[in-house]
Amino acid sequence: MNESKTRRRLVVGNWKMNGNLATNAELLDGITAQWQGVDGVDAALCPPFVYLSQAAHALKNSVIELGAQSVNEHDAGAFTGEISGAMLDDLGCRYVIVGHNERRRLEGETEARVADKFHAALQAGLIPILCVGESEQERDAGQALETIGRQLGVVIERVGLQAFENAVVAYEPVWAVGTGKVASPEQAEEVHRFIRAELGKLGPQTQILYGGSVKPGNAEQLFALPDIDGALLGGASLNADDFVAICKAAG
Ligand code: PGA
Repeated sequence: MNESKTRRRLVVGNWKMNGNLATNAELLDGITAQWQGVDGVDAALCPPFVYLSQAAHALKNSVIELGAQSVNEHDAGAFTGEISGAMLDDLGCRYVIVGHNERRRLEGETEARVADKFHAALQAGLIPILCVGESEQERDAGQALETIGRQLGVVIERVGLQAFENAVVAYEPVWAVGTGKVASPEQAEEVHRFIRAELGKLGPQTQILYGGSVKPGNAEQLFALPDIDGALLGGASLNADDFVAICKAAG
């Protein structure tokens, strides 16, 4: 790994289906007001689609980037209720989350569709944050790495390894998301090392985030691991103090 570039740290907040104009304004103000002192960390916020403009406006003078929670795989057309990559780009998004387990499980997104969405994000000039992760049953059955290898493999097959030059991967064990159960440092590091190896020559330079119950109290321990480059936050990103504290821990 001696040709590895120094990877920047990245912390991404996924607000999921939470907030309203008033609470978002408070959260965005809280984050930007406390941002001083966060050094060397890239950060992004992914509000619901309908609040992207609000967040774009609030983050206008900030280094914090904007991201979306999903994207449709088509360019345009008769896809009622869907949002294209070009629309996200138009609103100033830099990142888009692809393949979050809530979309795979609750919205029936197949692995093939996740790969198409990843491709569409790249085509629109966005940086996809590809979420992969095993369920509790898969981990208990000793199939964690096999599951993650398959999820990653479908995307690599679709876009090619080189495409990961402009992508981020997030390891999110399904059993750790929103549950308060965080992967142990050994479990997380094993998967991150595996993902890096699966990415071949792109492995050393790809940002690989951990997601699943990251809080100010456990972030430092996770960020100390050699293959963890940052975090994808759900719950903790809805609290300005927690979000900023985790970004500081990554710095
Ligand atoms: P959590 O969610 O931090 O609330 O566990 C993480 C995620 O869904 O990305």
